[in-house]
Amino acid sequence: MDVYEVIGKRRDVRAEFTGAPIADEVLHRVLGAAHAAPSVGMSQPWDFVLVRDPDTRTQFHQHVHGERAEYAATLTGERAATFERIKIDGILESTLSVVVTYDPHRGSPSVLGRHAIADAGLYSVCLAIQNLWLAATAEGLGVGWVSFYREEYLQSLLGIPKTVRPVAWLCLGPVDRLQEVPDLERHGWRSRMPLDQVVHHERYSAHTG
Ligand SMILES: Cc1cc2nc3c(=O)[nH]c(=O)nc-3n(C[C@H](O)[C@H](O)[C@H](O)COP(=O)(O)O)c2cc1C
Repeated sequence: MDVYEVIGKRRDVRAEFTGAPIADEVLHRVLGAAHAAPSVGMSQPWDFVLVRDPDTRTQFHQHVHGERAEYAATLTGERAATFERIKIDGILESTLSVVVTYDPHRGSPSVLGRHAIADAGLYSVCLAIQNLWLAATAEGLGVGWVSFYREEYLQSLLGIPKTVRPVAWLCLGPVDRLQEVPDLERHGWRSRMPLDQVVHHERYSAHTG
């Protein structure tokens, strides 16, 4: 697959995980792709915690479903009914989970390029996640990003120090298929906007179409 094909095929996966094993060398390539991401000041502020233990995953799944209920309680009418039909994770069905963290102290003090924008460290971690996501897609695997959790809960579940932020819980594994249309679009939650709507010329407010 060329890079545009991989970008087009990538999906956030919840329902299509098979639970089949991933060969060690495939996992190594996917994590290597994540670790090859650009990072502010070459700080490489990411770590990857591989979670296979069913007990840990069950505990996290329960926490996520508590958070899902909390969010659902803020919705009414059509939004509430639509959200009810949307699956938000494949924590138990996927082969394993990869928790990606951000250590703001890595390479500090004086991280080159971060003096004015503290978030540049976090941006770097997100690029590692996107590399992982695209590499997994190229390997025929699915990835599902779960963000229905409290950071303190995940820190305590996995023994992550208070100074290190969990950025993503990623479900990873073989899938029976990748949907062509994002789940949220298929369920009528929200659709991808036309490109023209988000491209501006010269100034932020000058729309072309
Ligand atoms: C930061 C971030 C957090 C996300 N959290 C969740 C989540 O908790 N549960 C979920 O089902 N999808 C989650 N997603 C996936 C998005 O819903 C998905 O990317 C979007 O609907 C577009 O679909 P696609 O990735 O299949 O193109 C998250 C994506 C991002 C980038």
